[in-house]
Amino acid sequence: PVLVVDFGAQYAQLIARRVREASVYSEVVPSSITAEEVAAKSPVGIVLSGGPSSVYEPGSPELDPAIFDLGVPVLGICYGFQVMARALGGEVANTGLREYGSTDMTVTGEGGSLLGGQPESQTVWMSHGDSVSKAPEGFEVLASTSSTPVAAFGSKERRMYGVQWHPEVKHSEFGQRVLENFLHDTAGIPADWTSNNVITDQVALIKKQVGDGKVICALSGGVDSSVAGAIVHQAVGDQLTCVFVDHGLLRQGEREQVEIDYVASTGVRLITIDARDQFMDALAGVTDPEQKRKIIGREFIRSFEAAAEALVLEAAATDGEPVKFLVQGTLYPDVVESGGGTGTANIKSHHNVGGLPEDLQFELVEPLRALFKDEVRAIGRELGLPEAIVGRQPFPGPGLGIRIVGEVTWERLELLRQADAIVRAELTAAGLDDEIWQCPVVLLADVRSVGVQGDGRTYGHPIVLRPVSSEDAMTADWTRLPYDLLARISNRITNEVDGVNRVVLDVTSKPPGTIEWE
Ligand code: XMP
Repeated sequence: PVLVVDFGAQYAQLIARRVREASVYSEVVPSSITAEEVAAKSPVGIVLSGGPSSVYEPGSPELDPAIFDLGVPVLGICYGFQVMARALGGEVANTGLREYGSTDMTVTGEGGSLLGGQPESQTVWMSHGDSVSKAPEGFEVLASTSSTPVAAFGSKERRMYGVQWHPEVKHSEFGQRVLENFLHDTAGIPADWTSNNVITDQVALIKKQVGDGKVICALSGGVDSSVAGAIVHQAVGDQLTCVFVDHGLLRQGEREQVEIDYVASTGVRLITIDARDQFMDALAGVTDPEQKRKIIGREFIRSFEAAAEALVLEAAATDGEPVKFLVQGTLYPDVVESGGGTGTANIKSHHNVGGLPEDLQFELVEPLRALFKDEVRAIGRELGLPEAIVGRQPFPGPGLGIRIVGEVTWERLELLRQADAIVRAELTAAGLDDEIWQCPVVLLADVRSVGVQGDGRTYGHPIVLRPVSSEDAMTADWTRLPYDLLARISNRITNEVDGVNRVVLDVTSKPPGTIEWE
């Protein structure tokens, strides 16, 4: 792999993704990693990420200097560039000149192919306080800006380069080129991390892990579990049974999407559990959001266990082989050991099908463990899954249950389903699916307001639109949807959905608001 050393900012995962966009496999490792640990991973290249610290701060992360003696090509970025400069005998100074944002830069040397063939003058994205004031012995200065004389340096012999700017950020005009030049030319790494190869590798691994054992997979209709199921099916065919729990909190057409489109495109063996009444009974009278989440999570596990038991009975009646493996759609960001993250407060108890408890007594099969979300989508497309599933926006495990503020009843769900279907159709028709991260549609079931329709007074419920733009759902901003589109959605909902007489727009960023209302 290419190792991306994480110095504790949000950049390491982004760099890892960009490396993979160059069709090279990458892994994020903490900056506390030792040279032996690095060597044990047999990396073909190392990228040092940026970070929030100053190399002068006591306790700021350092790097085992022996890593630079392993003979592995290194690219240092921002803070990583400065760490590299110090470790190799250059100098870093606190000039008091900060650079932040888009900056004009002049290329002064080619550095082999790193900056070769690029325009002499270009815009790069900077974010730093300290600067490298002297390149290490034997390193050529490759670029400068008005306030940073050493904006990049490199040594062709040692195959080591550093840049002060952030090539992984789209605002750096030739950023991806710099990364690709480093990976393919300097380090000589072939571009063979492709969806097709990933599928081939995973299929082989799954076959090896599972042998002729039986496998079960809980489908939610979302991207991760759908792709995980499809790839396992590719590997072991009908040894896999997929289970889909219809908890009644789904959006319009979602059950059909799984039962018809997913099954048609993959050929998986599917059991649907109709647990709608079970969930409605369990949710009766409940209005507290956390309680709703807990109940939905609990009932989900119950339904899934019932399905697993049915399969055990079926096994007893046939070959006696019980189900041994459980597919989980765990993604790379969930497992990456990074230098940055610390524990976060429990804001909401999340539930998703990837979160089935481990005491279910299955061995886990996790074919997406090494992948980022966009890679999972690419693989889903390669496997021929319908775009409606592969391109689907995030939808929470507890479904519409947490989009009704107030008690969840069947009537309210039906009403919300209609409103949600209108919103989704209009957003798609307006070509905005790629621009928004997701748009929860929320029913304020405990709120009523007076309206007038035709000649009569109405006393109905408001529907809230919560369109958000986001990179990772950790932070978000409300999306500025065109007024005409909002007007059309509002007209349609108030005209077509009985019981709704008002449509309102949520204009809160996250933080302080969360994306979902409950
Ligand atoms: P919040 O509301 O915390 O949501 O800002 C962040 C993202 O997570 C989704 N979400 C969930 N996803 N199970 C999930 O799989 C859950 O319990 C859950 N709750 C929220 C939400 O839709 C948004 O994308």
